[in-house]
Amino acid sequence: MEKKNLHVLHGGDLDEISRIYGINKNEILNFSGNVNPLGLPSSVKKAIAESTDMAANYPDVSYVALREAIASYTGADREHIIAGNGSTELISLFIKTVSPKKAVIVSPAYSEYLREVVSCGGNAELFPLREEEAFMLDTDRLKANITDDTDLIVICNPNNPTGTYLTCGQIRDILTHCKNTYVMIDETYVEFSDKDISAIPLTKEFKNLFVVRGTSKFFACPGLRLGYGVCSSESIRSDINERKDPWSVNIFAEVSGQVMFKDKAFIKNTVELISSERKRIFDELIQFKNIYVYDTQANFFLCRILKDDITSTQIFEELIKDKILIRDASDFPYLGNRFLRFCILDKNSNTLLLNSLKKCLK
Ligand SMILES: Cc1ncc(COP(=O)(O)O)c(C=O)c1O
Repeated sequence: MEKKNLHVLHGGDLDEISRIYGINKNEILNFSGNVNPLGLPSSVKKAIAESTDMAANYPDVSYVALREAIASYTGADREHIIAGNGSTELISLFIKTVSPKKAVIVSPAYSEYLREVVSCGGNAELFPLREEEAFMLDTDRLKANITDDTDLIVICNPNNPTGTYLTCGQIRDILTHCKNTYVMIDETYVEFSDKDISAIPLTKEFKNLFVVRGTSKFFACPGLRLGYGVCSSESIRSDINERKDPWSVNIFAEVSGQVMFKDKAFIKNTVELISSERKRIFDELIQFKNIYVYDTQANFFLCRILKDDITSTQIFEELIKDKILIRDASDFPYLGNRFLRFCILDKNSNTLLLNSLKKCLK
């Protein structure tokens, strides 16, 4: 991979960054991956350690106990849940199943939605969140853009990379207006929010709704590859299951899922840490005169550099010299070379980043 593309790699591409910049990957402070700084829950470590012999077995192909655990955690019906190899597998399977001729993707957004729609031969229309509206979605404007031939609407809530969010009421409004259009809500970051914004309760009411979630970010386990989708349409679920490889969730992810969702202490500690650091960092950043920070309900911030003589790529290059990795957001649609994204880590690391950013921007 060429060096010029490195600053816009997926947040998880730590290996590639470490190879090119010659930095030991364990020494990188990774503000680009959006992963919970508390690390893998100890309950999950213990469960995996105690289940190594189970690698000699196949997982339960129907994942009954795992789906039961997800149902208790989310309030969804067990029958409505499909377990997958990270949210990525389910995003891909759902889009393949709908096979949209025309999809509307609220953007800037996670790049995989567009890639999937295009790889299915569909037309993707990007619906722009506006900078002048602080990247909050104007649902009336979205509804006015949905036509009879729109097969799918994709929304990430809270959205990556803007951190902005929709309330459950706004999602209901969209679903009510777009009865004949599938709506996929990606809730990869929803558990970091301190607002009650999940669309999972709406799945019981709207058969055109597919909610997808991962565990990689909140439960700090991207290497496990565990995600789940919730949908009350039996035909959608059976089409997805037809396409899905059996046992795509490995046995350690299956075992982990049965303990992580019950780990109330880990969940509480995460929400407390992220809420308090989100407030502290925001309060600090609004004092920076060379940065504009957007309000966020996720575990990351999107910022706009207000200084004319420095780009997001230059800031990326400056920070990586100190082994600090942020996401240069310049490749996202509708953003540009003045946008940065970085996630919330532990308090000391966050302070270090704030100080380094201050230095770059003075
Ligand atoms: C919005 C969003 N959805 C999905 C994913 C993929 O996550 P997973 O590891 O669950 O496949 C990511 C990863 O960065 C993401 O940001």
